[in-house]
Amino acid sequence: MSYFLGVDIGTSGTKTILINERGKILAEASASYKLYHPKPLWSEQNPDDWWKATVKTIREVVKKSGKAKESIKAIGLSGQMHGSVFLDKDDQVIRPALLWNDQRTADECDEIESRAGGRRNLIKMVANPALTGFTAPKILWLRNHEPRNFSKVRKVLLPKDDVRRRLTGEFATDVSDASGMLLLDVKKRKWSRSLLNKLELDESLFAQVYESEDVTGTLTKKAAKTLGLTTDCVVVGGAGDCAANAVGTGVVKSGVLSTSIGTSGVMFVHSDEVQVDPLGRLHTFCHAVRGKWHMMGVNLCAGGSLQWFAENLCQDLGPKVYDTLNREAAKASPGSDGLYFLPYLAGERTPHADPDARGCFVGLTLAHQRGQVARAIMEGVTYSMRDSLEIIQSMNVPVKQVRVSGGGSKSKLWRQLQADVFGTKAVTINAEQGPAYGVALLAAVGAGAYKNIQQACAATIRETSSTPVDRKTKRLYDARFPVYQDLYQSLKGNFKAISVVEA
Ligand code: XUL
Repeated sequence: MSYFLGVDIGTSGTKTILINERGKILAEASASYKLYHPKPLWSEQNPDDWWKATVKTIREVVKKSGKAKESIKAIGLSGQMHGSVFLDKDDQVIRPALLWNDQRTADECDEIESRAGGRRNLIKMVANPALTGFTAPKILWLRNHEPRNFSKVRKVLLPKDDVRRRLTGEFATDVSDASGMLLLDVKKRKWSRSLLNKLELDESLFAQVYESEDVTGTLTKKAAKTLGLTTDCVVVGGAGDCAANAVGTGVVKSGVLSTSIGTSGVMFVHSDEVQVDPLGRLHTFCHAVRGKWHMMGVNLCAGGSLQWFAENLCQDLGPKVYDTLNREAAKASPGSDGLYFLPYLAGERTPHADPDARGCFVGLTLAHQRGQVARAIMEGVTYSMRDSLEIIQSMNVPVKQVRVSGGGSKSKLWRQLQADVFGTKAVTINAEQGPAYGVALLAAVGAGAYKNIQQACAATIRETSSTPVDRKTKRLYDARFPVYQDLYQSLKGNFKAISVVEA
């Protein structure tokens, strides 16, 4: 029997699993690390922490499983997308990485659109508009604000690809993660020379692009020794965490849509063709399925909103804080007695692309208690994901089934809220470690255990539960959703004024 590792380098921590050829999870481990916010709306992490967490969790998983190192044939890497690891000529990390939810680059987004000859031209080149979270604006920010650091840069890597470099010595990336750099010709699945030229960035700064299931290298002697593995163990392209989660939940064909509520909230749909939202609200990226694409909408602070509430305002609830909040929120009535929450604590990506947007509670009365506040947070996050769903539906993309995943979907209440707010049953599947599972399957394909990722998913992934829509509650949410949407429009000007005063 051969075994495959899946490693997901997330924002709150790294999760690693080991699966067998039938897709059974034999062992799992996780390790957390710090997230730094040196200024409001800045978000950074230390790449060394990702590496340490990868080493710790791989060693732990291998030990727990008791499997011989020779039988562990391949590793798949998944990671938070868009982060920028800047390396110097000696492959040393120059400064902490700027992350996907960092909002400092609004000026650089304008600069990119103007160098590209306008937003429409940019979308023609890379299928997406410039958004603050993407990688290209971060590179320009370094050039504009830290020129000394910029002059030292020899490579810019995504988070999981920096881990890959330390595993294999190779500078490689995969098509799905590379799409989020805003430098990939998404249609042709290779770097966009025309945009790189306009931005005056040299192609040698970037890694070689592979399909997600292709082998990008083998472990170096040093890495094999550190991990307790062999130098025959291959590392496949892997995927950005959104595409990896889609693979791990079996979203590898059209008609199935997945939602994931982790720190961010993602609404993801497979597409056989490159389809672009003309208004640029949805992202169009390469899928981790060879020769296919996907569209997605991203909320920057989904589970992150409840986490903020739990950690900052509910310290007295102790380690069972989420159980208590879920219980209290389930007792509150749908609609939280008129309380609305706008989940824009880190600005917002889809649909508003507004780094100035801020989190809000609107409609508070003296009667509101903690349960209603927690429920309003979950409802607000789910409304924000419905914003993405409605754009997907308006593009005539078929949606036959919604698969829910991520930490938020472990909550019975949040599954029901998704069914009622989206108006479609919410299906869960057997694999709960979405991104790590997805890349473990890609590793199995790369090592030859399956013909392709569709075959691997068909053999391993099945539905485990289905939460039907409660028609009465759905009607109530349908009536409240336009009010939620309107609140952003009413407050947009105030958000701008608030950010100007803060700066
Ligand atoms: C996707 C995105 C986030 C991060 C979080 O575009 O920004 O989902 O990948 O891990």
